[in-house]
Amino acid sequence: MASVQGEEVVDRVRQYNDIVEVITDYVALKRSGKNYFGLCPFHPEKTPSFSVSPEKQMFYCFGCQTGGDVFSFIMKKEGLDFRGALEFLADRAGIELPQPGSAGGQASRERQELYRVLEGAARYFENLLRSGPGEPARRYLKDRGLDPETVERFRLGYAGRSWDGLLKAFTRQGIELARLEQAGLILPRRDGSGYYDRFRDRVIFPIRDRRGRVIGFGGRSLNDGTPKYLNSPETALFHKRETWYALDLAREEIRRTGTVLVVEGYMDAIAGHQYGFKNVVASLGTSLTLEQARILSTLASEVVISYDADAAGTTATMRGLEILSKQGLRVRVVTLPVDADPDSFLRSSGAEAFKGLLAGALPLVEYRFRRVLKKHGTSTVEGKVRVVREIVPTLAEIENEVERSAYIEKFSHQLGVREDSLRHEVGKYRQRKRQRRARTWGPGHRNRKIRNNRDEHRNEQIMAALTAISEKTPLAVQKAEETLVRLVLNRPEIIERIAVGLSPDGFEGFEIESYRKIAGLLAKAYRDSIAAGKGFDTRQVLSVFDDEQTRSLVSRLLIEEGLDRLESEKVLNDCIITIKVHKMKKRRFEITRIIAEREGKGVPIEKELLEEYQELSRCIEEMERQR
Ligand code: GTP
Ligand code: MN
Repeated sequence: MASVQGEEVVDRVRQYNDIVEVITDYVALKRSGKNYFGLCPFHPEKTPSFSVSPEKQMFYCFGCQTGGDVFSFIMKKEGLDFRGALEFLADRAGIELPQPGSAGGQASRERQELYRVLEGAARYFENLLRSGPGEPARRYLKDRGLDPETVERFRLGYAGRSWDGLLKAFTRQGIELARLEQAGLILPRRDGSGYYDRFRDRVIFPIRDRRGRVIGFGGRSLNDGTPKYLNSPETALFHKRETWYALDLAREEIRRTGTVLVVEGYMDAIAGHQYGFKNVVASLGTSLTLEQARILSTLASEVVISYDADAAGTTATMRGLEILSKQGLRVRVVTLPVDADPDSFLRSSGAEAFKGLLAGALPLVEYRFRRVLKKHGTSTVEGKVRVVREIVPTLAEIENEVERSAYIEKFSHQLGVREDSLRHEVGKYRQRKRQRRARTWGPGHRNRKIRNNRDEHRNEQIMAALTAISEKTPLAVQKAEETLVRLVLNRPEIIERIAVGLSPDGFEGFEIESYRKIAGLLAKAYRDSIAAGKGFDTRQVLSVFDDEQTRSLVSRLLIEEGLDRLESEKVLNDCIITIKVHKMKKRRFEITRIIAEREGKGVPIEKELLEEYQELSRCIEEMERQR
């Protein structure tokens, strides 16, 4: 691809890196209205306050107030400077950059070098497997039933017995020790006298990312040595939480069929592929993570899990299945015979038998029900109560009503309890969950019934007449505008958040002219600098304003005691509410006036007007409740 220059490059890279797509590589996002929400990757939290706007191509966390565009996200997440983030995103989009900047490209160049080192190591291990000393490993793989083509396809290798085979070979090539250590290939000796190879006398399974680049290794002992498997440590490139073994090879098939088969071990994945199941990936023996689930959910709609019988039942596994299912994936569980894993089953019984097992895989709900049944039994009332208690949350989580109902019917029969009592329990649970959610997420649930609007607007007329709203801006609103201006001056990064909060008018809607001006100029300067890929320097905030009067007002606002970070969130919300409620009341008063006028003249009142009135009343009530 031809190289492009300067600002154009930044724009181009931005254009080819949709913020939602980029962030979904790190955060599981769910759409809700215009925006996406997820758990913030920058601070620990249990309920999502991290939001991404596809429209604005910005992200913002309501919890930790981190926000920005796609570049700021990558800078923060990957620990890069702007140039590094630019290179990272260019690389992601396959855009060629003009020659790398002198200092900034450092991080990115280091990553590239790590990839090269790991690729070299993979080749080194592959060669060793083919060499004389690789004979035991070759025999081992043959004994385990692997074809030469499979060995090649998975790029299996062998790490020799020596303590420094790789170390010597690579330093001869001029590769720095630091680099080898960063790649997880060597370890410092405990006595401080140099380094030694991490992998020795093991069959090597290169671990590749989605694009097929080697990012780490697993090494299996040829005999009963411990540990059985040794894996690369976490490195700049290898993140276990977001890695699936064999995903590079399985990816197309997963996409084509919409189904992914998840197994536990390297050998299970490899055997799966050799026996013609091309959609198999392995989880590498750790419990499933949100990141892994998210990756699958972008490729497939269904996951079939085939763990060995011991592993399948564990709490860790169940939690993993939960994570997958929460990610919107349909989950089914294969039951293997005791003591079998997919690899051993395929070898002993063949592909057809395995297909049979896959066909009989139970949907997660049913799998869970069977387990609970088995655990508590149904012969006693106590057992039944326990089964119900444990299965109700699962049933309650099924969003599709027909499906939920069908399972309730089925399970109540199998359990020998009345269908309507199980239904009742599930209903109760759902109700409680809804209430919890409403509390967490605040308004947005329009389940309150609209009151008789005629009565209400007559009331309002009287009220309005009594209150006689003055043209003057109430003091509370003036104060609220001032506080918001002070907040954005101190922390321009929350400017979008506030602008959104004040929509549709944004800062334009401020009633005090000087505040409107300050907020407007600041917002513009902030957006310009973000768009130009420069961070916004708070220290130069004054230079945004050109007339002396504004500058001194700004200085005053800046100098006056700043707000504490923790309390500012609450203050900010209150200010936004004050301003919005004021606006809505003004508009509602306006409508009241129009309605009164029409009624006076006997002119019919438009339905839209009444609806707007109702909507305003509803919003006002809702907002005031939030205080
Ligand atoms: P084989 O005995 O070679 O068939 O192994 P397997 O692939 O069946 O592995 P197993 O079911 O014992 O474990 C599943 C996965 O867990 C392996 O593929 C490894 O990724 C991981 N694992 C197993 N044992 C160890 C260990 O001792 N250390 C580490 N770090 N990982 C392990
Ligand atoms: Mn096995």
